[in-house]
Amino acid sequence: MRILGIESSCDESAIALLDGKGDDLTVVSSVVLSQVDIHKEFGGIVPEVAAREHVRGLLPLFDGVVERDGSDIDAIAVTRGPGLSTSLQVGLETAKSLSYVWNKPLVGVNHLKGHVYSAWLGEGVPEFPALCLLVSGGHTELVVMRGHGDFEKIGSTIDDAAGEAFDKVGSMLGLEYPGGPKVSTLAVEGDEKAFDFPRPMIDRDNYDFSFSGLKTSVLYKLRKMDDVDAVRADVAASFEEAVVDVLCKKTFRAIEEFGVKNLIVAGGVAANRKLRARLVDGAGVDVYLSEMQYATDNAAMIAAAGYFDYLSGVRDDAFDLIIDTNLNF
Ligand code: KG4
Ligand code: ZN
Repeated sequence: MRILGIESSCDESAIALLDGKGDDLTVVSSVVLSQVDIHKEFGGIVPEVAAREHVRGLLPLFDGVVERDGSDIDAIAVTRGPGLSTSLQVGLETAKSLSYVWNKPLVGVNHLKGHVYSAWLGEGVPEFPALCLLVSGGHTELVVMRGHGDFEKIGSTIDDAAGEAFDKVGSMLGLEYPGGPKVSTLAVEGDEKAFDFPRPMIDRDNYDFSFSGLKTSVLYKLRKMDDVDAVRADVAASFEEAVVDVLCKKTFRAIEEFGVKNLIVAGGVAANRKLRARLVDGAGVDVYLSEMQYATDNAAMIAAAGYFDYLSGVRDDAFDLIIDTNLNF
């Protein structure tokens, strides 16, 4: 079957067309319109601006991807949360309208589950039970997945998300928003042992994370420096090392405790090369990493999650479906 995916939860307008047969998914097309250049000048996402850009940018993406009358698709999957309310609204209302006029079934998708399903867009198919490490700008979660749609959250961040910490440290280092990729590029030239930043909660007997203290520690260190330029790369490398250490240690412990067969790593921070390499080396089970293009927000992952929800019988009502900004696993 062919399923259309629509994503607008944050600052990316995206649509995708996915072909599904059993567990096998093929991305027919996936387009993403990023607003990053627009939000850059504000140093972060401005919700009102994001919503306006979705209104302007979303519909034109359909041109050439789906037939005007929707005759080449069987269902529509759309992100209904979590995310920014006005941004979510644009995608949801678009999907509801199309579902109504095309008379196609509608599936409202949890964006976080969408990130997990990016693992189904590459080579091979993950086996259950799997552990998912979801690391994005808004979320840091460890989840055990025992089957399609069967998720148990075992831990999450109690303050900042991993990506958020990367972005905030990026801004302390004078890097443009979003700082994550730039911090990790800068880190390549630095010494990861130069500064011994704290590894919050690393030895706690749970699967929760905290990155706020680490971020503050970087801030205080930088304030004490006379020549910040001389240590920027070392700070970036030592900070990245601390984040990767904490994420890996807790992930490896969960793999043991829950006896999972696979590890799935998803979300924007899954694009981090050091994290990817360390997880693959140490997991002891097969690791499914989102391909770079599907690690950050996209609609192919939403279509994938929607496809498996659809197979398990989920159908939403075009008149009743509403957003849920706090949706979780
Ligand atoms: O999943 P995503 O596209 O959006 C959310 O749903 O949050 O993740 C974006 C986050 C940003 O915080 C960005 O800085 C971070 O992922 N990120 C990275 C890297 N690439 C993206 N963080 C560290 N290293 C990277 N290479
Ligand atoms: Zn996301």
